[in-house]
Amino acid sequence: MEQYIIKGGIPLVGEVEIAGAKNAALPILSAAIMSDETVTLENLPDVNDINVLIESIEKIGAHVSRVDRHTVKINGSTIRNCSVDYESIKKIRASYYLLGALLGKYQEAEVPLPGGCNIGSRPIDQHLKGFRAIGADVNISRGNIIAKCERMTGAHIFLDVVSVGATINIMMAASRAEGRTIIENAAKEPHVVDAANFLNSMGADIKGAGTDVIRIKGVPKFHGCTYSIVPDMIEAGTYMFAAAATKGDVVLKNVIPKHLEAITAKLNEIGCEVEEGDDSVRVVASKRVRRTHVKTLPYPGYPTDMQPQISAVLALGQGTSIVTESIFENRFKYVDELSRMGANIKVEGNTAIIDGVSQLTGARVSSPDLRAGAALVIAGLAADGFTIVDDIVYIQRGYEDFDAKLRALGAEIRTVNSENEIRRFELSVG
Ligand code: EPZ
Repeated sequence: MEQYIIKGGIPLVGEVEIAGAKNAALPILSAAIMSDETVTLENLPDVNDINVLIESIEKIGAHVSRVDRHTVKINGSTIRNCSVDYESIKKIRASYYLLGALLGKYQEAEVPLPGGCNIGSRPIDQHLKGFRAIGADVNISRGNIIAKCERMTGAHIFLDVVSVGATINIMMAASRAEGRTIIENAAKEPHVVDAANFLNSMGADIKGAGTDVIRIKGVPKFHGCTYSIVPDMIEAGTYMFAAAATKGDVVLKNVIPKHLEAITAKLNEIGCEVEEGDDSVRVVASKRVRRTHVKTLPYPGYPTDMQPQISAVLALGQGTSIVTESIFENRFKYVDELSRMGANIKVEGNTAIIDGVSQLTGARVSSPDLRAGAALVIAGLAADGFTIVDDIVYIQRGYEDFDAKLRALGAEIRTVNSENEIRRFELSVG
């Protein structure tokens, strides 16, 4: 099993190019099979979750060809069945997007119940409620969700919780229903807007994405298009906090600064400077960060996907910070690992109380999920001595070339696969 080994204590300095957003690319790849003409997707991140989804799309018969590392051409005219295989998709949560895509296009879909990061119970009742509202019969049998309908007709749907997945999934299916659908209490994340823009590029008629009311007029079919995925605000935010933790000076390229505002605001509060360019931001952190309080909320609030990373930074801050997780109930699993590095954090219910310490020390830690793993890497970059992060397979699900990009910023980090490699690294960096 691969691990990262890090020698901490080096300020990150330089430029890093941000990849396309995983959480936009997953629904967009799924929606691409809804056209029988060729769709070209650019700026796809080369990460495990995306590659698993591409394989699953190929397995149901779509034709996928890679133009280069970040560009694929997809043609959904050759799809032979609407049943997605469990083995190929069990690892990723976003398998549920194939439900909306297949249901919208063929009026039937069979998809295994989603897997993915273990950060809470993660029900999908709102997705199913939306599909039922537009006329689908939805059942769960032998671990699969089976959705079918004779005729899909537009409906007025009020989501009981703000859900990124349910909003996008319903948007996909409803784009091909007869008549108008209105989704109220919709999620407003940039990836919801990107998925809507993509569907519109294929001929859908969706208005209001990015607000909490989305209006969809169904169309009978989609055409081909070329579309470039939006930059990844969570990957960007992760490097911003890595700069803060290491007292570095990092320029992020290929970002949309507007999407980073909640993160930028927190960095300013804790004493870092953030300069915004047109499609770049620079983070300068010259001193120990200050305390702050954070509560995760749906966009434009502070993102839950950035909660572990800011906690790793606040673990090194001056004073006591309080971090409240209000989206997922099980997203503090990294706290025990950070404590092994000397952090002083107590979790009570959905709140972490962080008493900042002046130094973390390297330790062997294990990555419990994707963003938690990234937070442990941030802690390792700032810590004194060597940190080994196990289970990096979670991190590789969502960060392209994480170790190489950090090395380009001056970090001492390697992917290793044996005790020998660990020792060699320790000897080489001293
Ligand atoms: C997406 O998950 C992302 N995943 C998550 O990213 C992200 O943390 C989350 O949105 C919130 O921004 C993908 O895009 C693949 P939700 P999703 O539906 O769609 C409850 C990462 O690290 N809910 O917005 O599954 C749910 O339990 C990951 O990249 C229901 O009750 O999240 C949660 O409390 C992890 N019923 C809240 O809503 C439903 O039917 C928000 O979940 C759906 C959700």
